[in-house]
Parts: sequence; structure tokens; C-alpha cells
Amino acid sequence: MMLDDVQALARVDAHDTRRVLAEFAAQCRQGRALSVTLAKRAARPRLVVLAGMGGSAAGADLVATCGLSSVDVPILVHRGYGLPAAAGRDALVVASSYSGDTVEVISAVETALARRIPVVAITSGGALGTLAKRHGLACVALPSGLMPRMALGLLVFPALNALAAHGVAVAAEADLDEALAVVSAQAADLTPEAGSDRNEAKQLALAIGPRLPAVYGGPLTGTAAYRWKTDLEENAKLLAVAGTMPEMNHNEIEVWQGPAARTLHAVLLRDRGEEPEIARRFALVRELLTPAAGGVSEVWAHGTSRFARLLSLVHLGQWVSYYAAILRDTDPWPVPVLMSFKQRLSTSP
Ligand code: F6R
Repeated sequence: MMLDDVQALARVDAHDTRRVLAEFAAQCRQGRALSVTLAKRAARPRLVVLAGMGGSAAGADLVATCGLSSVDVPILVHRGYGLPAAAGRDALVVASSYSGDTVEVISAVETALARRIPVVAITSGGALGTLAKRHGLACVALPSGLMPRMALGLLVFPALNALAAHGVAVAAEADLDEALAVVSAQAADLTPEAGSDRNEAKQLALAIGPRLPAVYGGPLTGTAAYRWKTDLEENAKLLAVAGTMPEMNHNEIEVWQGPAARTLHAVLLRDRGEEPEIARRFALVRELLTPAAGGVSEVWAHGTSRFARLLSLVHLGQWVSYYAAILRDTDPWPVPVLMSFKQRLSTSP
């Protein structure tokens, strides 16, 4: 089988994406060690805005979702130009752009500067790095050389550190320890060397096969579902949809009947911490979808803390998208359309 033939796999994975993914736990440890140095004692913000796009917004999503149950300050993820009107001088903006050259994030920082909102920049350089230097902004300097979506560990931990430095503790240190232990433990069962008889990521990629994946999560795991979708799209170049329980019960559920449902594969992201009413919805959804769907798979988060559970699902999703790419004979690393779009955007009037 192709996925167990490591040499054949290496021929498709010409940029050695497997090495970057296999080092995810180490990358997370490296990210955790990157703290923010603040010029003066920071005031606790009344609102946090996490500005970022694409892969650089994925860490922000994890932070905001974890924060929902633990902090009394609203945390908004802002994907776009400018900033929401609610962000004033008592807010904090954390601007993440791995490359530093994402125009939406630059625009968010310029708006923050105009409104005199404190900013923490997280970047490997680019225009954001230059802007941060010029204005003396707090900045976490990331090592370069990765694809932004494959730098999640370097983006999410500094964002958590930046919030903690401002008195907004989204996750306890013990939760971060646990998350690192969970992803380290997962790694050996997800890499190409782990055969498809015991490798959950390979099994899922094979189960999805040529069908369109629809990834559904609950109130916590819906964030991981969205990340699965974007990883499948960028790595495997495979259109995917993501939805959340209970909202999908009110609309998307209608799609899962008739012959068209055979072309879809549902992946349910489950979590042992989910509320009984959510568990009941998952059980019903599974029952309703199974007769008509091309397939239905169920995946369980690992770990105890919210952060560990989320990170474990995201980690698994990275590998599923990787193997989905290999099955489609697609190098998971490059994103030529995205790059050429950005290039054209920067040159056209
Ligand atoms: C590419 C990727 C993209 C980028 C996005 C924003 O690997 O993941 O989704 O993250 O285009 O670019 P950055 O992250 O450099 O701000």
C-alpha cells in the first residue's frame, strides 16, 4: 500500500513535509520558550483582538476557543483589514503573521497604532517585523523557513504567553505541559513509519478516499474541524467543509440524503469533555448520516485539558491532510495558487 511505502511517499513529499510534521512536539516546545518582553508593566486589557490570516490565524482560534471557558475578557479573532470598532485604547492587539507580509495584518497593526492600542507582533520578519521595530512594539521573533500553516507550535504558544503577560491566563502551565506530553505521545503512531494497521491518520485518509470530507466538531472541537478543513485544502488541495454542533443540525444536516451524499465523507471530532446534550446530537447525527453517506468516521481527542484536547485533534488533522495529499499524488508543501494570488494582489493597482 502506497502510504506504507516510505520511499514512494518520499517521492511525492519532495519538500520533506513529513519531517516538519514529525517535529511538531519539538516545535511546540520551542514556541513555548518564546516569551514576550514588555517595555513597561502591562495593563490588563478589556478586550483582546488576535489579528491574523490563514495559518497564522489558526493558533488564534485555539487561544480564543480555550479562553471561552477560562477568561472573563472577550477574545476576538480578527481576519481582515483594520480592526473591529470595539477595539479601543483599553484593548490589546496580538498581530500574528508568520511571513510578516500579510497585508490584512499590517492594516490591523496600522489601525492599532492610529488608535493607540498596545500591540504584540508575532512574526519571522517581513513588513510586520519592520513595523514593530520602527514603532518599538513588543515583538516575538520567530525562526523562518517554514510554511505558516506548519508553524502552529511557534505561533500559538507565544500568543498564549503574550496574553499571560497581560494578565489574561487562557491555559494553566500544567495544561500546556499536558498538551506537550499528549502530542509527543501521539507522534510515533502518526508518522509514515507507523503502518496503516495502527496509524489513525492513514486510516482516515484512506477512509475519506476520493470523497469530499465534511468535518464536524462540537463547541470545543469545532475549532479543530475548521483547521482540518484548511489543512486539507492547503496540503491536499482537496475541498473540505467544516461545521459545528449544534449549528449544523439546523441547516447542513439537510444535505446528507439522496445520491449526492455518497460523494461525501463525514468526520466527527469527538471529545470526552463534551456536554451530554452535544454527545446526544453527535449520536443522532451519526445515525442519520450513515445510511446515505459515502462514509462516516469518528475521531476522539486525547488529553484532559481543553488545550491538550484541541491540540491533539489539530495534530491528527495535520497528518490526515498529509496522507490525503500523498494519496492524491500531491506535494503537501507548496501552495502555488495562494502565492501567485498574493503576488498579483501586491502588484495590481
Ligand atoms: C501558507 C498558509 C497561509 C498563510 C496566510 C497568511 O502556508 O498557511 O494560510 O498563513 O496566507 O500568511 P502569513 O501566515 O505569512 O501571515
